[in-house]
Amino acid sequence: MADIQNIYFFDTTLRDGEQAPGYSMNLDEKVRMAKQLEALGVDVIEAGFAIASPGDFESVQAISKAVEGPTVASLSRALQKDIDAAWNAVKEAGKPRIHTFLATSDLHLEYKLKISRETALEKAVKMVAYARNLCPEVEFSAEDAFRSDLDYLCKVVEAVIDAGATIVNLPDTVGYATPLEFGNMIATVMNKVPNIDKAIISVHCHDDLGLAVANSLAGVAAGARQIEGTVCGIGERAGNASLEELAMAIRTRPDVYPYHYNLNTEEIYRTARLLSSITGVKIAPNKAIVGANAFAHESGIHQHGMMANARTYEIMTPESVGIKKTSLVLGKHSGQHAFEKRMEELGYTLDADQISKLFSEFKNVADRKKTVTDRDLVALVESGSAISQGQDTWALDNFVVNSGNLMTSTACVTLRKGDKKYQEVASGTGPVYSALRAVEKIIKHPFSLEDYQLQAVTEHRDALGEVLVKISDGNGFYRGRGVSTDVIEASILSCLAAVNRMLDAKVSAAGQGNSASVMSFENDMLVGHSDKMNGKGELNA
Ligand code: KIV
Ligand code: ZN
Repeated sequence: MADIQNIYFFDTTLRDGEQAPGYSMNLDEKVRMAKQLEALGVDVIEAGFAIASPGDFESVQAISKAVEGPTVASLSRALQKDIDAAWNAVKEAGKPRIHTFLATSDLHLEYKLKISRETALEKAVKMVAYARNLCPEVEFSAEDAFRSDLDYLCKVVEAVIDAGATIVNLPDTVGYATPLEFGNMIATVMNKVPNIDKAIISVHCHDDLGLAVANSLAGVAAGARQIEGTVCGIGERAGNASLEELAMAIRTRPDVYPYHYNLNTEEIYRTARLLSSITGVKIAPNKAIVGANAFAHESGIHQHGMMANARTYEIMTPESVGIKKTSLVLGKHSGQHAFEKRMEELGYTLDADQISKLFSEFKNVADRKKTVTDRDLVALVESGSAISQGQDTWALDNFVVNSGNLMTSTACVTLRKGDKKYQEVASGTGPVYSALRAVEKIIKHPFSLEDYQLQAVTEHRDALGEVLVKISDGNGFYRGRGVSTDVIEASILSCLAAVNRMLDAKVSAAGQGNSASVMSFENDMLVGHSDKMNGKGELNA
């Protein structure tokens, strides 16, 4: 049995989180995320749902091989074929886990599974025993546990522990519980189940009422020792409990939660940023722990208090989540050494080639902008344009746009690929539309613009503009990020980042014999640039 003073963090960003619309990741992105979760020190990475698709299977398998520290789990229904797939995907992990689940609430049994309580109990026991024969660590989840009959739930928990489950997870699948009730459910299970000392009780709460973190912590107070969550709380519907909020609640309030944990909270910020840069979904400014305003003190009274003693308004330091403060301001006279040092302090390990490419991008920005802040640097490195420029990728050489409110916009764009340059002119109802259309003409591969977001990285008029786009060629969605003091340039750069991914995927698909069916960007109705466009590329109201 594990030390009861230990709290284990189970991350399901790559399974429950990735299930949410807009958060899907490709294999490389999942492996990158998993490596960062390893650096964060999570105890368990739920890498996916192996039976769900060949892609899911491959990513679970790749993550099992790529990480060493954390346990790697795959989800499976309580079905033999699911469990076999889960085991085949995780068996090469240093610490594999099969995570099998079955609903226990009458609602799910009657309407979804159409089986009786007795049949469900038998099935759970049989499948846990089957999984345990394959894998030394088996987690059983009683789906919709919170809305299950408590006596029946206790019976199931006891039976699956007897069958070999080493972890029993009690989810609030639909985010219906309140903290007091959820804590009571865990306390009852802890008190009533005779063999409870042979397993770790886990909590997994959804955030439909905004109570996922509070409910999980109530579960911990009642005896749960594994907490399941996702980075930034992403997940089905309103999401899961946010891992960083759980971790910082425990770190900041050791008087209430006197537990040991392996999580390295200094990696939190970098993990959240990586997720955002991979998925292209911005972190809300007021998001607890990792939002841009989480440590910003705007009002005069607060600033005064902070100067007198930071503890007046700060319950945790930005450094404790990995946000590094600096007195160093970079500008156009800064040398490569200072730039490199700052990148290191911000936590980026880059090779010499990447540093020199990024440094020249930095110089371009510094020429146009008086001071370059950490947020600018993070945006630059995360746009990835300096990092991913190979011989086969499209890069921007130059562009000219002619635009005004009484005219049709025209763009002349020149792109580079290897040593060659390609130029096209296109027109449209706005400068972004015409520029992206010129790109489409050059690359000769139609795509539609599914999402477009423009945001200033920092305050002030000379701020960098960051553009996030999502494009589709009918076979998949591809995201890109671009950063520049010029929003049209940022738009083209983000589009090229997405285009390079799209063409990359096309090459891989061709290798696997898949054919492409494409929708044309020509059909889109782009009317200038805005914070958000709908699926057809039209402006949202
Ligand atoms: O929310 C839930 O019940 C789940 C289980 C499959 C663990 O995600
Ligand atoms: Zn869930």
